[in-house]
Amino acid sequence: MPLYCQLKDTLKAAIERGKLKPNDRLPPETELAQLFQVSRMTVRQALIELENEGFIRRRQGQGTFVAERKFRQSLLRLTSFTEDMQSRGLKAGARVLSVKVISGDENLMQRFEAAPDEQFVRLERIRLADGEPMALEISFLRRKFCPRIEEIDFTDRSLYVTLREEFGLELGWASQTIEAKLADEYEAKVLGVPVGVPLLLMQRITYLADGLTRIEYVRSSYRGDRYQLYVEVMR
Ligand code: GLP
Repeated sequence: MPLYCQLKDTLKAAIERGKLKPNDRLPPETELAQLFQVSRMTVRQALIELENEGFIRRRQGQGTFVAERKFRQSLLRLTSFTEDMQSRGLKAGARVLSVKVISGDENLMQRFEAAPDEQFVRLERIRLADGEPMALEISFLRRKFCPRIEEIDFTDRSLYVTLREEFGLELGWASQTIEAKLADEYEAKVLGVPVGVPLLLMQRITYLADGLTRIEYVRSSYRGDRYQLYVEVMR
């Protein structure tokens, strides 16, 4: 096994066993080289790979730190952000960036298979886990099923709970796509991450319990450094 792989495995094991904890600072490259009796090039190669795999993070001018653990997100169930956080023992929150009523948007009409005169509500939120920004979420809802929903304050309030409790809407299933994207300036600013970090863009169309009526279209941009998607596959 190449030397850099051995060093990488050693550091990875220290992180996985909790000897090195999230936000611990790693010694500088020269020190690591001395400690493990390898060249600086070897150390650098090991660190590049650990960073690519999300185990460590370099902060400009501050050094290299052990990354926060990633949340594992199952893809099998239709859950809300609030439920996802609760299941991890974290407090879900939201900061509302904007709420608007819109109509006459061709793209939305097609997505929802809606009539040309239908109105939609666009809700833009930053989703927080114990106060830390995790995702930028832009939800579009068909206003005729949840009239005046734009008047509700969604700060720290679940959309799915609101749909059920205020409007009697039961969700049935959703179709979802996931793709990689790089944070643009706006996303970086509201998520508090550097421009260009990887994000996981999940787009969901949610149907009501009748199985046919589309109620929600969402674009959720999750931080790629904090999220890992999980699915079990059968042969
Ligand atoms: C997740 C999903 C979104 C959904 C949201 C509802 O984040 N990716 O598609 O709109 O949950 O969450 P809540 O009920 O907490 O507002």
